[in-house]
Amino acid sequence: MEALKRRMVGECLRQEMSTSRWIDIPEEVMELYVHAGRPRPLYRAKRLEQKLGLGKVRIYYKREDLSPTGSHKVNTAIPQAYYAAKEGKKTLVTETGAGQWGTALTYASSLLGLKTVVFWVRAVYDWKTERKYLMQMYGAKVYASPSDQTAFGRKLLEVDSKHPGSLGIAVSEGLEYTDLAADRVYCLGSVLNHVLIHQSIIGLECIKQFEKADDSPDLVIGCFGGGSNFGGVALPFMGEVLQKKRECEFLAAQSEAAPNLVRGEYRYDFGDTAGHTPLMMM
Ligand SMILES: Cc1ncc(COP(=O)(O)O)c(C=O)c1O
Repeated sequence: MEALKRRMVGECLRQEMSTSRWIDIPEEVMELYVHAGRPRPLYRAKRLEQKLGLGKVRIYYKREDLSPTGSHKVNTAIPQAYYAAKEGKKTLVTETGAGQWGTALTYASSLLGLKTVVFWVRAVYDWKTERKYLMQMYGAKVYASPSDQTAFGRKLLEVDSKHPGSLGIAVSEGLEYTDLAADRVYCLGSVLNHVLIHQSIIGLECIKQFEKADDSPDLVIGCFGGGSNFGGVALPFMGEVLQKKRECEFLAAQSEAAPNLVRGEYRYDFGDTAGHTPLMMM
């Protein structure tokens, strides 16, 4: 717990463990959401409906892609950067896989006047160079992971100087790097409760937008990697289903390449390769 308190944003850790039904969004975070283009529109996909020829089926989609860096990740990057700045932190450290989380956190950091250090899975770092330029434009330091910045990275590079890396390795490096200075803090882009809480802005907006459209979904669909995109849109609707305020079903869609909801074992494991995180049920 002491290590977690040192490495994580205090307010995020409190939210992680919170049992409150509602957590207020600070006024400044609301203003930054507006700055970043919220609320985002809910569109009706009329041409897709016609093309599919499904009769009376109505399809809506929420435009999280209109965020400044192109993904929903900005929704949690902004509050995480805001709380970190309030707690006197100077540098946000993180991992990124595809690069969406790295760009989102770097963008939010720049709004709050913070520095960002990103450990980016080497295989993708070498591939999506335009995202690297975007992060650097916002002032981030970006390292291909495994890197020479940490003991864990150096150990892996000794064995294979072209190690492709993995998300688990990048998290391990980020946590080790965070421990090297007291004004650094580690931020995660998916999976954890506080991230899903921040992402619930998507579903909360959808509920209001459906009211305005005088319509209501029978089925909410989201893609699922670590769960923040799906949770963000689905959890507010699920809350109302559990309170018997609406009837609705949910569908999480995921790649066959990483079927973490339907295959594998459900058990305790570390969130990173080196075993720096607490054991979590996953
Ligand atoms: C554009 C986009 N959509 C959805 C997802 C899935 O989000 P999650 O991993 O939180 O389930 C990601 C993950 O990086 C993403 O970049």
